[in-house]
Amino acid sequence: MQQNHFLQRTVTCGELTHADAGKEVVLNGWVHNWRNHGGIIFIDLRDRFGITQIVFNPAISQELAEKAAGLRHEFVVSITGTVILRPESMFNPKMPTGQIEITASALSILNSAATPPLHINDPDASESEELRFIYRYLDLRRPVLQNNIIFRHKVTAEVRKYLWTNNFLEIETPILMKSTPEGARDFLVPSRMNKGRFYALPQSPQTYKQILMVAGFDRYFQIARCFRDEDLRADRQLEFTQIDTELSFITEEDIYRVFEGMMVELFKNCLGISLSTPFPKMSYHEAFHTYGSDKPDIRFGLTIKDVTSVFQNSEFKVFKSTIEANGKIGAIAVADFASCTRKQIDNFTSLVAKSGAGGLVWLRVNDTGVEGPIQKFLSHEEIARLLELTETKSGDMIFMVAADEKVCFTSLGQLRLELASVRNLINKDEFKFLWVTDFPMFEFSEEEQRYVSVHHPFTSPRLDELDLFLSDEYFKTRARAYDLVLNGFELGGGSIRIHDSLVQKRVFELLGISELEAEEKFGFLLKALSFGAPPHGGIAFGLDRLVMVMLKLDSIRDTIPFPKTTAGISLMDNAPDRVARKQLDELGIQLQEKYNS
Ligand code: AMO
Repeated sequence: MQQNHFLQRTVTCGELTHADAGKEVVLNGWVHNWRNHGGIIFIDLRDRFGITQIVFNPAISQELAEKAAGLRHEFVVSITGTVILRPESMFNPKMPTGQIEITASALSILNSAATPPLHINDPDASESEELRFIYRYLDLRRPVLQNNIIFRHKVTAEVRKYLWTNNFLEIETPILMKSTPEGARDFLVPSRMNKGRFYALPQSPQTYKQILMVAGFDRYFQIARCFRDEDLRADRQLEFTQIDTELSFITEEDIYRVFEGMMVELFKNCLGISLSTPFPKMSYHEAFHTYGSDKPDIRFGLTIKDVTSVFQNSEFKVFKSTIEANGKIGAIAVADFASCTRKQIDNFTSLVAKSGAGGLVWLRVNDTGVEGPIQKFLSHEEIARLLELTETKSGDMIFMVAADEKVCFTSLGQLRLELASVRNLINKDEFKFLWVTDFPMFEFSEEEQRYVSVHHPFTSPRLDELDLFLSDEYFKTRARAYDLVLNGFELGGGSIRIHDSLVQKRVFELLGISELEAEEKFGFLLKALSFGAPPHGGIAFGLDRLVMVMLKLDSIRDTIPFPKTTAGISLMDNAPDRVARKQLDELGIQLQEKYNS
């Protein structure tokens, strides 16, 4: 039977120091660890605030020590005792309470615990993620995960503080809404009252926040839950949280200034790190051609060089045919890496193949020139120009990919990240922010055989490219869109919006959305824009991702209390689950036969 009345704590498990020696205290918490040293029982007592060592000495009370000997991992207890200063040689500098221990004078067991299937006192969480997710409430007891969640709270609190003081209003928008076209698949919710109709869960509050600007709220933010039915990766979840913002009467420069300010505050108040502003900016074009990515990690070099011009008259068949087909040849030079092994080269070749590259050409630079499988096809002049363009010296290694432009730079971008890891070039203590700007408005979707928006259809074209936007070559137009990148992760993205309903109509037309469809899907937005919409724009940051990068974690799952697996399942409560026939009937839904069992 559990005990209903208990002595409530006078202190937490994380606050006692040498200054408290001699005090009589009561602590409540969980048994984190226990040891029996020849009848003397040592307990590490844990709560959210820390860990305190408790000693039960049979020389003081035989009965109490015997009771304490029955304690096991995760029992919940209330302990009364005296704070004792440890001898200096016994200080534990790793624990904030490491200068003291408690000599217990009373113990109540408030609850026992079944043997936990996880080692909560193992900081490395060596169990499988599956087991950790099934017993997430135990996993969350680990001090490491507790700290992640507490840190996330702190970041959220600092965000609110900063935005409140900068005149933003915190406004909620609906969760049950009409579908917005953010590019991913929607989660649909059937309507009982309007059978045959569906709400969509927001992929983001995009349309609502723009309408809030039309309504005159000037500066909006929301810590907004977003839902996207897309394939999961280490930095993606089906439901995630955005720091979502929108501002009126602004330009890109205001966005950069306001949100650099927010990052400065967050890093100062949450990590004690001072960032310098302004953050550097790079066009999408430069990011793609220099780093092979729209979210370059600029903590290290290894930039990609376009060496196509060197091989205009190449006798090497692959180079020749690539150039004839209007493709590109890109190169990455790695200093002092001529010692690279065959096995490493094979790994790099498989890596670039994943991005579609037909092969990886490599050359070791030596005192007389270069050495490698294609050396015999290279003229002296080509070698000299290649060495010059790649700025290499004897002992370096050059990797090259010849392919169509997208595959060439994308695959080298992936190789660049792998090379940095193999060569240990990343300073993990550095935080390097970068604004990536001037994204194209449109990109061609092979799958859909039409142009689609790179950001979303509400993004304004560059004002100096309006003529291009109205011409047949509209697909070359660049957008007033920007992403904030940190250490190779896209933290946030946004744009200056279209506030003119005619421009908005043209975008829909170019995206192949018929007038009828545009009217059906976004008629409400077009109508709102026609009633005097102010110039406006905004940005949304992934809160989970931000916390992950700030804490240098490998997965956003470690920043989310109840995450889903990569198969989209919540293992603890087994969602998604089947529902009763009656519930489906009420919704007017009938499952296909194969899903009935
Ligand atoms: P975007 O789609 O770029 O923009 O999303 C903004 C940021 O949200 C985070 N994010 C995700 N985080 C975890 N899991 C996901 N599945 C996921 N998808 C996105 C990223 C990303 O940078 N409405 C626009 C913003 C705007 O234009 O103001 C939008 O949602 O960190």
